[in-house]
Amino acid sequence: MTSVSLSVNGRQRMIDCQPGDTLLETLRGPLGLTGTKSGCEIGYCGACTVLIDGAAAHSCCLLAATMDGREITTIEGIGPDENESLDPVQAAFLETGAVQCGYCTPGFVIAVKALLAENPAPSEAEIRRYLTGNICRCSGFVAIVRAVAAAAESAR
Ligand code: FES
Repeated sequence: MTSVSLSVNGRQRMIDCQPGDTLLETLRGPLGLTGTKSGCEIGYCGACTVLIDGAAAHSCCLLAATMDGREITTIEGIGPDENESLDPVQAAFLETGAVQCGYCTPGFVIAVKALLAENPAPSEAEIRRYLTGNICRCSGFVAIVRAVAAAAESAR
């Protein structure tokens, strides 16, 4: 068992984990943050995307034991806030109909937060390229690309 101290959604946490525990397992299990979804668990679908020190990463491919001192943001840390207000990216996904079953949506929202932090005015090609690590099997990507453009515009 290893003890790891990390920040999760702005709150300092100490967790005990086995050497083989993934960050995804730790978030969804001991930390109870089930907004981060488990899909393929091999780094392909992006359902498990979180921010680590501001960068998007697939939490199924990272060991929790390596997260000491890191700052993790999950979908619970994005929104809704204490006033029930959605983050602009979440709102854009809803307003443009980019959500169907919703299983992939937390991963997409997190990835888009990282994209817009890095590039506040991405082109359609840049949006599509950036989101290649996230898969949606039911809404298609047209509405998702529209949502990202709307979120970028509202942020500007
Ligand atoms: Fe991590 Fe699919 S569950 S990439």
